[in-house]
Amino acid sequence: MERALIKGKGSRMIKERVKLHPTAEIGEGVEIGDGTKIWAQAQLGAGARLGANCVVGKGAYIDRGVRVGNNVMIHNYALLYRPLTVEDNVFIGPQVANANDPTPIANVIRDTAKDPGTTFKKGCRIGMGATLAPNLTIGEYAQVDMRALVTRDVPPHAIVRGVPAKIVGFACFCGKKLGKHPEIQMGASIHHRCADSSCAKTVTIPLENYKRMK
Ligand SMILES: CC(C)(COP(=O)(O)OP(=O)(O)OC[C@H]1O[C@@H](n2cnc3c(N)ncnc32)[C@H](O)[C@@H]1OP(=O)(O)O)[C@@H](O)C(=O)NCCC(=O)NCCS
Ligand SMILES: [Zn+2]
Repeated sequence: MERALIKGKGSRMIKERVKLHPTAEIGEGVEIGDGTKIWAQAQLGAGARLGANCVVGKGAYIDRGVRVGNNVMIHNYALLYRPLTVEDNVFIGPQVANANDPTPIANVIRDTAKDPGTTFKKGCRIGMGATLAPNLTIGEYAQVDMRALVTRDVPPHAIVRGVPAKIVGFACFCGKKLGKHPEIQMGASIHHRCADSSCAKTVTIPLENYKRMK
C-alpha cells in the first residue's frame, strides 16, 4: 500500500496522508481525512465522506453520500448503504450490512433522501455478520453481537444478540460487559461502575432500558 492521490473526479483529500490501495474505487467528490487507510477493492460511492484515522477493509462498500467520522474501523466486506451516518470511534465488523429499503422493487432505485436513515452513534460496535433493518439508531457504546438481526433501535450501552436481536446486557465505555447486578439504583436510573479498575467509569442506564434485558 502506498500513498496515492484520490482518483475520483472532483474528489479531494482533506490532508495528504491518505493511504489508498490502487485497486480501491473512489467515486466523485469523495473526501477522506488524514491518516485514513483504504484497502484493496474497497468501493466508496460518490460524495462519501470519511474522517481521519479510519480503516476501510478489503472489499468494503460505502454507499454514496455516507458520512463517517474519525477513528472508525470498517472491516472487510462490510456493506454500508445510504442514508447512513457513522459517528467517531465506531467498530464495524466483517460482513456487517445495513438494509435501506423496506420494500425493494427490482430495477427501481428509490429516492432515499427523505428517509431518516441509519445512525451508528459514537463508540458503538457492530459484530461480525450483523444485519440491520432500515432506519435504525445504534446507541452510543452499544454492542451488536455476531450475526444479530437488528430490527429495533439499540439503546446506548446495550448489548444485543440473536434473531431478532434482544438486549442481553450492557457494556461500559471501555467495551467491557457490565455485570447483571447494578451497584446503585437511583430513581429511574441504574448507575453501574465498571469492574475493570483501570477504567472504573460509571455507566448510567435508564431503568426502562434495563428492564428490557432478557
Ligand atoms: C464474543 C461473543 C460471541 C460472546 O459473548 P459472551 O457475552 O461472552 O457470551 P457467552 O460466550 O458467555 O455466551 C452466552 C450464551 O450466548 C450464546 N451466544 C454467544 N454469542 C452469541 C451470538 N452472537 N449470537 C447468539 N448466541 C450467542 C452462547 O452460545 C451462550 O449460550 P448458552 O448459555 O446457551 O450456552 C459475543 O459477545 C459477540 O458476538 N461479540 C462480538 C464479536 C465480534 O463480532 N467481533 C468483531 C469481529 S472480529
Ligand atoms: Zn469500563
